[in-house]
Amino acid sequence: MNTPWLYPLWIAHRGAGKLAPENTLASFRLGLQHGFRAYECDLKLSRDGQAFLLHDDTLERTSSGQGSPADQDWAALSRLDAGAWHSPPFTAEPLARLEQIAAFCQANGCAINIEIKPCPGEETRTGTVVAREAARLWAGALPPLMSSFKPEALAAARDAAPELPRGLLLDKLWEGWFEAAEALGVVAVITNYWLMDKALIERLHARGWRALVYTVNDAAIAERLIADGIDGIITDAVDQLGPA
Ligand code: G3P
Ligand code: MG
Repeated sequence: MNTPWLYPLWIAHRGAGKLAPENTLASFRLGLQHGFRAYECDLKLSRDGQAFLLHDDTLERTSSGQGSPADQDWAALSRLDAGAWHSPPFTAEPLARLEQIAAFCQANGCAINIEIKPCPGEETRTGTVVAREAARLWAGALPPLMSSFKPEALAAARDAAPELPRGLLLDKLWEGWFEAAEALGVVAVITNYWLMDKALIERLHARGWRALVYTVNDAAIAERLIADGIDGIITDAVDQLGPA
């Protein structure tokens, strides 16, 4: 491992998106209350190219909207309720734009892992715009770690903002993943936790890459990974694991 690693070990998933509505500023505030100083969140584009936080390809589960956000302008998306679905105290919480997250993180000394989560067919456009915006919004600050399951999106991010660190997300060790990570110029590989063991951590470290996992909500699993040398743990369980 030759690159310095300035990111905290513990990373709150989707903001801190179990106890508060995922991917909203409310979830970031909740993570801060539990002592977290690093977040993962999911980024998409509206039809008119605004970068905002949403996990699913459709709006129904986590907002009052319907259909694909890729078919709607930010003016309409900004009026949606992204909190009531979670619980009454979060009613009227809006969708969050990337620039609000940049302001929050920099005001509170927090690091971020921006997962580029394009709607289908939007991989290159989303990677390009989100990386360009992230480079602008975090200029002079600890840079966001840009990640994606989609190599096309990460390649677009690399081309738009080569200076931002990148991590390839893996939900399985598909044929050619190592070579793809090489070609993308990653600094980290982020896997589903059940794929990660000591041998893989050592293989990644030997290549000079960091090893991160999602989504660990069990103390015994976290302890095993820490003993094996893991560099980052993405968790939902901000009230049970990690900082306080
Ligand atoms: O970035 C790691 C993790 O968030 C990937 O899974 O589906 O929660 O975005 P998902
Ligand atoms: Mg994610």
